[in-house]
Amino acid sequence: MSELNNIALKILNNGKGILAADESTTTMTKRLESVKVQSTAKNRLLFRETLFSASGMTEYIGGVILYDETIKQITSKKNKIPELISAMGSTPGIKVDTGAKVLAGSTNEKITEGLDGLRERLKEYYKLGAKFTKWRGVYNISKEHPSKLSIQSNAHALARYSALVQECNMVPIVEPEVLMDGDHSAKECYEKTSEVIKKCFEELILHKVDLKGIILKPNMILDGNKCKNKISNEEVAKLTLKCLKASVPSEVPGIAFLSGGQSEIEATENLNLINKYNDTNFIMSYSYGRALQQSALKLWSQDTKNVEGTQKIFNQRAKMNSLAAQGKWSKELEN
Ligand code: G3H
Repeated sequence: MSELNNIALKILNNGKGILAADESTTTMTKRLESVKVQSTAKNRLLFRETLFSASGMTEYIGGVILYDETIKQITSKKNKIPELISAMGSTPGIKVDTGAKVLAGSTNEKITEGLDGLRERLKEYYKLGAKFTKWRGVYNISKEHPSKLSIQSNAHALARYSALVQECNMVPIVEPEVLMDGDHSAKECYEKTSEVIKKCFEELILHKVDLKGIILKPNMILDGNKCKNKISNEEVAKLTLKCLKASVPSEVPGIAFLSGGQSEIEATENLNLINKYNDTNFIMSYSYGRALQQSALKLWSQDTKNVEGTQKIFNQRAKMNSLAAQGKWSKELEN
């Protein structure tokens, strides 16, 4: 088994998933200001350190995606953040794209940037302890979107990024996120997501990326958040599986979903059903940001010294998602 495949499996095996704590400073500022905490480097570190040192990290979190600021920060106990994560039994990773910018030649669409100088930045992150990376391409659904241009150019960037990451002996998380914003149906989400993922693999193969050494981070198949006719959670799970079975090559070891604005419980319930019906060989797990942190952040914001209470909430969410990643979750366990 290749070294990269081993890393991917270590991150996702045994019901483990990923904590996406890679919010850029701008996004983290929004999150902190929404709970009335000032967004200083110290506060951003304090919240993240509280989560990274929680006991749930060891049992349920196989990997943590960090942001450039965080991977270089030193904890209150004078440890480097990647060392803290490794000491908890998890694996440090890093977001390496530099964000989504307006895509020239299109209206209302974005292209993710960050390829310039990436090889050098990857070497630096590797030295800092990163074993895997993340790059997010973002697509929106409307009558004319995502355009062929957006599907093609984002797939190309994801593939160039992945090839560079593997060259540097790290596992690339390939994240094509079809947003849930809008009034589109789940059927439209299914069709667009399928097209997006297929194009990503076409490019990954062209760029000679070893598919056994990647993790795919897709959206689930959902109706738009403004769609009036909601499909059931069972249908979400079945459509998501149908889409992935038809578009993801069997070599890929694992799929870790983003939560994308679903509530914490919704994200857990849908993941659980996906695993209940999973008739593929793919590990189906989580790489959640908001769906792992929201309640913990809310409590922490009331008293930033309440480490125990914050960790208790985070541990519970991590445990629930780990059960869901094995199809063993039920609503009753939430209480
Ligand atoms: O790129 C997006 C994050 O890694 C996942 O965040 O679970 O809040 O959508 P989310």
